[in-house]
Amino acid sequence: MDHDAVEIKGLSKHYGGLAALDNLSLDVKAGEILGYLGPNGSGKTTTIRLMLGMIKPTSGSVSIFGYDAQTQKDIVHTALAYVPGEANLWPSLTGIETLHLLSKVHGRVDLKYRKKLIQRFEFDPNRKVRTYSKGNKQKIALIAALASRAELLILDEPTSGLDPLMEQAFREAAVEAKNRGQTIFLSSHILGEVEALCDRIAVLRSGKLVELGTLEQMRHLSSLTIEASFKEHPPEVKHINGVSKVEINGNSLVCQINGPIDELLSVLAKAHPLTLISREPSLEELFLALYGRQTEAK
Ligand SMILES: Nc1ncnc2c1ncn2[C@@H]1O[C@H](COP(=O)(O)OP(=O)(O)OP(=O)(O)O)[C@@H](O)[C@H]1O
Ligand SMILES: [Mg+2]
Repeated sequence: MDHDAVEIKGLSKHYGGLAALDNLSLDVKAGEILGYLGPNGSGKTTTIRLMLGMIKPTSGSVSIFGYDAQTQKDIVHTALAYVPGEANLWPSLTGIETLHLLSKVHGRVDLKYRKKLIQRFEFDPNRKVRTYSKGNKQKIALIAALASRAELLILDEPTSGLDPLMEQAFREAAVEAKNRGQTIFLSSHILGEVEALCDRIAVLRSGKLVELGTLEQMRHLSSLTIEASFKEHPPEVKHINGVSKVEINGNSLVCQINGPIDELLSVLAKAHPLTLISREPSLEELFLALYGRQTEAK
């Protein structure tokens, strides 16, 4: 394919004085799963609405497989399937009627696979939509999108409201979609899901893109925690480049290090440590740091 699945250029959306989205540029490659993360209100759904042409940007543009999301909406919509954060469905249709209707919207649908998904999500398609629980309503939208052969799946927190078993069913189906060559734009608050599925991750904060890359790259950007214990008082490490949050407790030392660790290690080694542990941030620590980080004006 000549075009990226999604090309977002200088995209902004202002509501009065509020920049819900501020000068976002981001590409999603065909065939990848991109995780789209950020705290509540950081602009994820706004980005998705702009991708779908549901709202007009204040400036900038989105193109989907080379077509403009605003001016070529009809062509764009044939290439994608969408799961909104809260599925707004027709209360008096049954589940299966809703699936039929959504399959007309999505065009190419794999009916055999849809049947498999209905079983896998343990979904009873014969009840009226108004009688479904929140999670079951979410399943309808999800099954409809996953059963489509749309090149691009745009999923806005697709597993909110699903129990862990169903979350697992979603992960399997997302991998199958990727193996089929479909591209997935996945907004999510579930870190384990993002870690398991996403090729790259974009992190938004207050409408601005603050990180873009693989999880591994992000882990490297953040600090390692070093813990060491000694026979006597620990050596002085505060002056070393990249060292922060030094805590000394009796004969043990804990600190964070950002960047090369050689100098710190040689200072610690000269003091003959009894124990030495280095650990990477957990996924939670990493994202708390990313979500909390001040946006640098760059
Ligand atoms: N129609 C609107 N009018 C005014 N402000 C809006 C409108 N839609 C969104 N906003 C504001 O834009 C900002 C971004 O909202 P958005 O829904 O994109 O966040 P989000 O990242 O999807 O959050 P969440 O994780 O809670 O779903 C918020 O401050 C929100 O209040
Ligand atoms: Mg949202």
